[in-house]
Amino acid sequence: MKFNKITPQIFKKLQSITGAEFVFADDESRINFGHDETEDLSFLPEVVVKPESANQISEIIKLCNIEKIPVTPIGGRTGLSGGALSVFGGVALSLERFNKIISIDEKSLQATVEPGVITQVFQQALIDKGLFYPPDPSSRGSCFLGGNIAENAGGPKAVKYGVTKDYVLNLEVVLPTGEIITTGANVLKNSTGYNLTQLMVGSEGTLGVVTKIVFRLLPFPKHNLLMLVPFFSAEKACEAVSAVFRSGIIPSAMEFMERDAIDWVRKFVEINILVKDETKAHLLIEVDGNDLGVLYKDCEKISEVVQQFNCDEILFAENAEQKETLWKMRRRVAEAVKSNSVYKEEDTVVPRYELPTLLRGVKEIGVKYGFKSVCYGHAGDGNLHVNIIKGNLTDEHWNGEVIKGVREIFALTKSLGGTLSGEHGIGWVQKPYLDIVFNEAEIELRKSIKKLFDPNGILNPGKIFM
Ligand code: LAC
Ligand code: ZN
Repeated sequence: MKFNKITPQIFKKLQSITGAEFVFADDESRINFGHDETEDLSFLPEVVVKPESANQISEIIKLCNIEKIPVTPIGGRTGLSGGALSVFGGVALSLERFNKIISIDEKSLQATVEPGVITQVFQQALIDKGLFYPPDPSSRGSCFLGGNIAENAGGPKAVKYGVTKDYVLNLEVVLPTGEIITTGANVLKNSTGYNLTQLMVGSEGTLGVVTKIVFRLLPFPKHNLLMLVPFFSAEKACEAVSAVFRSGIIPSAMEFMERDAIDWVRKFVEINILVKDETKAHLLIEVDGNDLGVLYKDCEKISEVVQQFNCDEILFAENAEQKETLWKMRRRVAEAVKSNSVYKEEDTVVPRYELPTLLRGVKEIGVKYGFKSVCYGHAGDGNLHVNIIKGNLTDEHWNGEVIKGVREIFALTKSLGGTLSGEHGIGWVQKPYLDIVFNEAEIELRKSIKKLFDPNGILNPGKIFM
């Protein structure tokens, strides 16, 4: 792809659009906005621009279209597929000033927000009103709702409540050519095609810049119960997962952590939970609802089911503090792994029942290609995060044998009816594997959509496709 550099004249024009105090070309800003949470990757933008309105974004994009300058929309920089990396330099378009919750409509159970609102801040504002926005990625304390839309983020609650896409009703979007559009309407049902809203969700900032979001909301469930189930075999833990659903219960979380994930996180943060030497994996299972009696019965039923898979003694969280500890143990795995080693985060997803086969295959492939992986994730969704550890591997091994192994993991995923990413996106790092899951026609169709939206290819270039 051929792009131009930002000249002093273009720089001045950018300053005149946002005000000079919102255009940054200093090293610190460029380094800060040059990375997200993906591996150890860093790509410096030439400038960081922080607009405050859709109109300003429109002007920036129009300018960049004329000048052939790449524009990379950037949220909370917590992404794990490199979707917000400025791989061709150009403008890093920070959405951080779009941080307003515009309205919470308690009558229709909807909220209108800007994309720079932090997910957990939004959730907390709703809880105060008895309302619920379920998608809860582990990065919820710092990720932006706009980024959640870009990658169609999930998190533990997805298993019962669905992912980001299931809550987006309508979007205001600045197109890569500068026009400002609304994708849908603020309604729960909409057969007024095409469904541009859902095309935008998960498009990784390549088709437009989201500047306003209308979400649907739920009432906040009054109670939840949480249990930690230790297993003597990781595969058995995975087998238990689909059996729980088959028994007629949909937990509000069904998370898997293999032994190494637990050990790494316990080295990283203090966690006061006894883990026996024989424990090879845990399932963390939550149920929620408004009737505590029903939830206790659900837990009894779940206990019966998991015992058929040879689990050890189940820990029931006794209070809010213990629940918090258990969730901390789960949510901080990725950070804990990262603090120990560079790693590749694979986000495999298969039909739930195939999870044990996927886990066994991942471990066999690791032995074949000489790498270690730490596996954990949203077992109830069949979504297994496979963290491949660089540790002491040479760069040659990391970029050779390991890549072959990753291809084999994805080929296995595809053969089981799954795909490359459940919730982290393709971004920059997964695109070499796209041919494993899509045929030429399927890739070409996507490329044509991209071209229609972005004829000059300036918006988040280098992502999803080669
Ligand atoms: C998690 C992130 C890595 O599940 O998706 O913790
Ligand atoms: Zn996850």
